[in-house]
Amino acid sequence: MSNAKPIPAFEQFIQDLRTAWAELLDMEARMKKGQQLLEQLVKDPAMREASKSWPSTEGRKNLLFHEDPECGFAINGVVRMPGRKGSIHDHAHAWTAYGVLDGSESLERFRRVDDRSKEGYAELELESVTQGNAGKVDLVPPFDIHAEQGGPTRSVAIILRSERVAGKVLQGSYDREKHTYRQIDGPVNIPYEVTG
Ligand SMILES: [Fe+2]
Repeated sequence: MSNAKPIPAFEQFIQDLRTAWAELLDMEARMKKGQQLLEQLVKDPAMREASKSWPSTEGRKNLLFHEDPECGFAINGVVRMPGRKGSIHDHAHAWTAYGVLDGSESLERFRRVDDRSKEGYAELELESVTQGNAGKVDLVPPFDIHAEQGGPTRSVAIILRSERVAGKVLQGSYDREKHTYRQIDGPVNIPYEVTG
């Protein structure tokens, strides 16, 4: 048996999220608070140290650290290999706070410019690219179109979702060159315990 122990900052993060969910009724307000809390979590040295042994999530996987039985929010981890190319997608109706814990990544945001009248067709324009170094947290509203790109080294991110999407509802997937849009299952969630 290992002598792995819970990480205090992670336990506190869950407690503080539960408080925010109880105090704030609007999901946008809850997730803005969640973004601030995640900004603290991704600066925690014990979390960063623990993440060095987390397995790669290549092949459209997410580590599932916690899904709250009462509040419904979900906390995922993503471990990207160097230079990983991310595909363009949305997270359906869920809010997402995306925090870089180790390494660096960039977040590309896209604007949809077609009139949505043609089934399976979408035209996108690149709206912005934000460089995310360790400690940076982005808040992605429902149906916002984006792609997370890996950096030159292995990178690790912690994701707070207003609710788990994968396995519940389909999310949008876009091909910018082929101008296609389709709905797909989210990444496979693999239960994983956060310990130090
Ligand atoms: Fe995403």
